[in-house]
Amino acid sequence: MRDLSLHLLDIIQNSIAAKAGKIITIIYANKLDDELGIIVEDNGHGMDKEFLDKVTDPFVTTRKTRKIGIGLPLLKSSSEMAGGKLDIDSARGKGTILKSTFKIGHIDRLPLGDISDTFVSLIAARPDIEFELKLDNGEKSFLFNSFEIKKKLDGVPITEYEVLSWLKEFIDEGVKTIFGGVLNEVDS
Ligand SMILES: Nc1ncnc2c1ncn2[C@@H]1O[C@H](COP(=O)(O)OP(=O)(O)OP(=O)(O)O)[C@@H](O)[C@H]1O
Ligand SMILES: [Mg+2]
Repeated sequence: MRDLSLHLLDIIQNSIAAKAGKIITIIYANKLDDELGIIVEDNGHGMDKEFLDKVTDPFVTTRKTRKIGIGLPLLKSSSEMAGGKLDIDSARGKGTILKSTFKIGHIDRLPLGDISDTFVSLIAARPDIEFELKLDNGEKSFLFNSFEIKKKLDGVPITEYEVLSWLKEFIDEGVKTIFGGVLNEVDS
């Protein structure tokens, strides 16, 4: 995978496939701990324990008996290559929380990529789903919620071109404000 925004798109697509109505994403970067983390929480149908235990490993023998994709194994390897890890907690009928961490300064850490593009694409495709995004650097944070925006739009569809371009700029500004000077790929 080229960057973290593409991993994020991939894992949020899993939440959508699990019929989530609300998907919360938190991206934090803590310079003191040298840790970058991505947390995605959804209220989709979840996974049972047996499935969860093998979902990040595409090489388990049970693979023959059911389809296991490569999205989660790839994210796991991206995290581990950069000194972090992937944790997934899930319960059938309740939802899933996934946390993927990285050492900010690790030479193999993937760059953040185009976070606003990921969210604008998701919102354009699924305006019926509530997407929330929180960015945090340990000192300040940025919060975005697609349903809060919808309310303020007063009937104008969130999928309208002008609205989506405004959203893109708004999220870009948030990324710059929170991660500029914290992640070296983000200009401050
Ligand atoms: N948030 C989630 N909620 C419920 N089930 C999930 C969630 N994320 C992953 N899964 C389950 O884990 C499986 C593996 O996910 P993974 O992303 O690795 O592969 P995939 O989505 O099946 O295929 P792809 O390689 O296209 O991503 C999914 O097919 C799904 O059954
Ligand atoms: Mg997937």
